Amino acid sequence: MHEILEELDRRREEARLGGGPKRIDAQHAKGKLTARERIEILLDPCSFEEWDMFVTHRATEFGMAETKLAGDGVVTGWGLINGRMVYVFSQDFTVFGGSLSETHARKICKIMEMAMKNGAPVIGLNDSGGARIQEGVASLGGYADVFQANVLASGVVPQISLIMGPCAGGAVYSPAMTDFIFMVRDTSYMFVTGPDVVKTVTNEIVTAEELGGAKTHTTKSSVADAAFDNDVEALASLRRFFDFLPLNNREKPPHRPVFDTAERLDYSLDTLIPDNAHKPYDMKELITKLADEGDFFELQEDYARNIVTGFIRLEGSTVGVVANQPMVLAGCLDINSSKKAARFVRFCDAFSIPILTLVDVPGFLPGTAQEFGGVIKHGAKLLFAYGEATVPKVTVITRKAYGGAYDVMASKHLRGDVNYAWPSAEIAVMGAKGAVEILYRSELGDKNKIAKRTADYERRFANPFVAAEMGFIDDVIMPHSTRKRLARAFASLKNKDLQNPWKKHDNIPL
Ligand code: HXC
Repeated sequence: MHEILEELDRRREEARLGGGPKRIDAQHAKGKLTARERIEILLDPCSFEEWDMFVTHRATEFGMAETKLAGDGVVTGWGLINGRMVYVFSQDFTVFGGSLSETHARKICKIMEMAMKNGAPVIGLNDSGGARIQEGVASLGGYADVFQANVLASGVVPQISLIMGPCAGGAVYSPAMTDFIFMVRDTSYMFVTGPDVVKTVTNEIVTAEELGGAKTHTTKSSVADAAFDNDVEALASLRRFFDFLPLNNREKPPHRPVFDTAERLDYSLDTLIPDNAHKPYDMKELITKLADEGDFFELQEDYARNIVTGFIRLEGSTVGVVANQPMVLAGCLDINSSKKAARFVRFCDAFSIPILTLVDVPGFLPGTAQEFGGVIKHGAKLLFAYGEATVPKVTVITRKAYGGAYDVMASKHLRGDVNYAWPSAEIAVMGAKGAVEILYRSELGDKNKIAKRTADYERRFANPFVAAEMGFIDDVIMPHSTRKRLARAFASLKNKDLQNPWKKHDNIPL
């Protein structure tokens, strides 16, 4: 018996070494942690339950029959993050470059199936050379199995990808179908075709970092939701992010202990809006002042900065925030901001996270670039996402809410549950200057007349009361009391029950 126990110990020890000390050193020399070290940082101490540690590949060609390594390049199992369950896979670059074989894929699919059955999120730590070259189509089939599992899990449990090394070719499409992608700066990249192929086909000379590094995907492509400086920072941030998420689509968002009172008034908000309507202010200041303990986890911070998305807590419960940012493009909606916010709204709705919308929007961005780029179709994404969302929706208009953008931003007409406006709100078809130029074109030569017309229009429309008189705004609130009013509004919506008509699925303009 003693020998059998020793054999188990020996096998475990061997599996834990992955590709061996030399390759582990090489991994460390690149500034990267190993698959198991990453799991240790991600999960609560001693909470990891590893599965399939002894699985090996079944390939025989190219001398593979003689090179079998326990675990086959991916560490899988489940554990806890701040006491809440999560399934994890962590690709081990020290074993065949973390490349994906048939059995490697099987291990990933196994935990995804368990995650769906047991209602716990899946976190993938990606670090892989892609399809296991020696296996050919068996590996491609394995990828497709993972893709299919991603699709089925979408909207059932949150799926998060952290890219911590190479992720190239078709392999990128598994993370792409998860809810959030985070990257590590300088050591991770994602692209469909690498720099060599790009050079051959298009004659462009580009480095892997330029083509698919964290900067590219957080600023240009919007593929990634956030980037971090190194493995440790990324994993610690992922723990913090995880705390905002519900475990599955049947659960309410988690409730955390709060040390901030809901009644907290903030008088500095009374002067947040500048006297000059054309002057910007930082919407993020408002978000952090409203949030419990000022804690805001922003997503897509460096992409489409004219809209801000992320999570806060109010009275300990997660709330998704969508806010126009007057500091960038005056807070206009455009193609990129509509797509960014629409995807965020749909995530919140899929996982029962209430949505707070903060509005200061002068309209959709004009121009040929926008029209040729399909702003009609892409703007409709956000409109559609808000319109279909059945989670509690609370809206505060701080300043401008002009034109179609007023409708889009979680207005009463799109089933906004509680719609507030600050006294500084201006709800109109357009700004006074533009309106007067159209309505009184024949008087444009007369400056005095136009000034009077503009003042008239401002008096009539540059306020929240016309909308409030029509019931489109439920109340005009003091800026300093916004946190208190929001907390009460969301508390009143805790048991909201709203169903959309039955359908197989809708047809959002993709
Ligand atoms: C098998 C692989 C591998 C792969 C790397 N290795 N990629 N083994 N299949 N795809 C092995 C190497 O042989 C090496 O083994 C070890 O992993 C480390 O690789 P290195 O090249 O030494 O590391 P590095 O210099 O850091 O370069 C990493 C890399 C490079 C850029 C990822 O290895 C690379 O270009 N690999 C091939 C990438 C690729 O073309 N994959 C297929 C893409 S197509 P030893 O024993 O020496 O340690 C694809 C299709 C998916 O993925 C389709 C889904 C539908």
